[in-house]
Amino acid sequence: MLATAHAAALVGLDAWPVRVEVESARGPNGFILVGLAEASVRESRVRVRSALFQLGVDLGEYVIVANLAPADLKKTGGAFDLALALATLGAIGEVPPDSLASTLVLGELSLTGAVRPVRGVLPQLLGARRAKIPCAIVPEANGAEAASVEGIEVRVASSLDQVRQHLRGKTPLPLANKKAFSPCFLPGADLSDVKGQHAARRALELAAAGSHHLLMIGPPGGGKTMLARRLPGILPPLAHEEALEVSVVHSVAGILPADSGLLAIRPFRAPHHTVSEAGLVGGGDPPRPGEISLAHLGVLFLDELAEFRRASLEALRQPLEDGILTIARARWRATFPARPLVVAAVNPCPCGHAGDPSGRCRCGADRVRAYRARLSGPLLDRIDLHVQLPPVDVGSLRAASGGECSADVRDRVVMARSIQTDRLRRGEVGVSVNAMLSLREIDRVATPDEAGGALLAAAVDKLGLSARAYAKVLRVARTAADLDGSDGVHVCHIAEAVQARLLDRVAGAESARQELSP
Ligand SMILES: Nc1ncnc2c1ncn2[C@@H]1O[C@H](COP(=O)(O)OP(=O)(O)OP(=O)(O)O)[C@@H](O)[C@H]1O
Ligand SMILES: [Mg+2]
Repeated sequence: MLATAHAAALVGLDAWPVRVEVESARGPNGFILVGLAEASVRESRVRVRSALFQLGVDLGEYVIVANLAPADLKKTGGAFDLALALATLGAIGEVPPDSLASTLVLGELSLTGAVRPVRGVLPQLLGARRAKIPCAIVPEANGAEAASVEGIEVRVASSLDQVRQHLRGKTPLPLANKKAFSPCFLPGADLSDVKGQHAARRALELAAAGSHHLLMIGPPGGGKTMLARRLPGILPPLAHEEALEVSVVHSVAGILPADSGLLAIRPFRAPHHTVSEAGLVGGGDPPRPGEISLAHLGVLFLDELAEFRRASLEALRQPLEDGILTIARARWRATFPARPLVVAAVNPCPCGHAGDPSGRCRCGADRVRAYRARLSGPLLDRIDLHVQLPPVDVGSLRAASGGECSADVRDRVVMARSIQTDRLRRGEVGVSVNAMLSLREIDRVATPDEAGGALLAAAVDKLGLSARAYAKVLRVARTAADLDGSDGVHVCHIAEAVQARLLDRVAGAESARQELSP
C-alpha cells in the first residue's frame, strides 16, 4: 500500500515542500530510503523503526520503501522522522493512508516515540501556507511559534502514539496555543542607569533615530558596554511584520525560545571577538544565519573592535552595504536578511587610558598608533558616528540617578523615525532611514542653510574630510534636524554631525600637525 505525508526542507530561510511517499509490501525485513537524504535523514530509519516498535508495530515482516520528493533537493536533519513514521503507519494500514493528505508534519522522534522540537518551524509553516496546505502537526515545544502563522490550523503532538490516535479519529490532538504578539523591551536595562556620558547618550539617540552605525571609544569601565546594551530599548517597538522577519531567522538558527511565539524584543547580539567569518556572516551546509543576520533589525555589538580578526570584519562590508546576504553553493543559494544597527566599542589604546588627563597611559605614541591602525579599514568607513567617552567623573557617579529614561528617549526616536517615513511616503526619498540616503537624496533633503554650508566647507577644508565623510556628516545632520522637528538642516545640526566624525577630526588634526612640522 502507498501512503504520503507532507514535510518541508529548509534552504536558508525558504522552506521547500517535500512529499514523503512510503510503499510497503509483505516480505523480508528492509527499509529503503531514497531522495537525496543526508546521513541525519537516513538515520531516521532507526528512530522510526524503534518508535513504531514501542507502539507495538513490528516492521520486521515488511519491506518499506520511502521516497523523499523532489529527488534533487538535499534533505537534512531529523524533522522528517514524524512524517516518515506516519506515512509508514499509513502504508501498513495502521492509520487511514489518506489521513495525512492535507497536513504538514514536522518533528523528530526519540527511540521511545516522543516527538522532539525541530528548527525552522516558522518558515516551514509559512511555506505550507503558500502551498495552500490547511493543517499542520508540530512538536509541542514548537506550537506557539507555529501558531503565529495565520490561516493554518496547527495541532501539537508530544508522542507518536498521540498522532496515531488523532489520525484514527479517536483522540484529537490539541490545538496549538496562540500567543498574542506584544512588543516589549528588555527589563532591567534602562538608560537612566547610565550616569554622565552626555555625548555618548546623545550619539546613541542619533544612532537610533537615523539608524546610523556607532563607534564608541573610551577607557575601560566607562560605560560603553552598558550603553550599547541599552540601544535596543530606545529603538521603536518591533512591528508585527518585523517580528516575523526576525523570528524566522532565529527559528532557522534553532534559537527561538521553546514555547515562544514571535520574538517581541529587538535582538541584541554581541559576538565574542574570536568569532569566525562564518560565525559572523553565516555559512555552512545546510546554511545557517550568522550573527549579522541574527541581529537583523536589532543591534550587532562589536565589543573590543580592535581584537576582531580583520577578515571577519571585512566580511561584514557587503551585507552591511546591501542589507542582505547571499550564500551560494553549487546546488543552492540561500539568502539571509542583514540589517542590524552596528555598535562598536574600543579602548583608545592597549591600556585603555590614552588621553586621560591624569596621564596614567604608558603606551607610547608608536603603540597607540599601531593599535589604532588596526581600526582603520572598510568597516569604519561605514560607521557614521564616532564618540569619545571620558572616564566617568565622581560627581556623576555619586548622583542619585542617571539621565533620562529609555522611554522618554524612545519617544523622540519614534517621532524622528516617523518624519523619515513620511519623507519616504511623500516620494522625496527611496529609503525609510537617514543612514541609507543616497547622494542624490542627500542633495534633495539634507542641503544645509548658508551658515551650515559654510561650516561644512570649513570642516572639509581644515579636517580634510573625504567625500564619503562629507555625505555621512549630512546624513547625521539630517537626523539631528529630524530629532529637532526641523524641516531645514541648520548650522547647529552640521556642527553636531562634524563633532561626530571624531576619527576624521583626529586624522585631520594629525595630518595638519604633520604639514606644519618642519
Ligand atoms: N556611566 C556609568 N554610569 C553608571 N555606571 C557605570 C557607568 N560606566 C560604568 N559603570 C559601571 O561600570 C561597569 C562596567 O561598565 P562597562 O562594562 O559598560 O564599561 P566598558 O566601557 O564597556 O569597559 P571595557 O572597555 O572594559 O569593556 C558597569 O556595569 C557599571 O556598573
Ligand atoms: Mg565593555
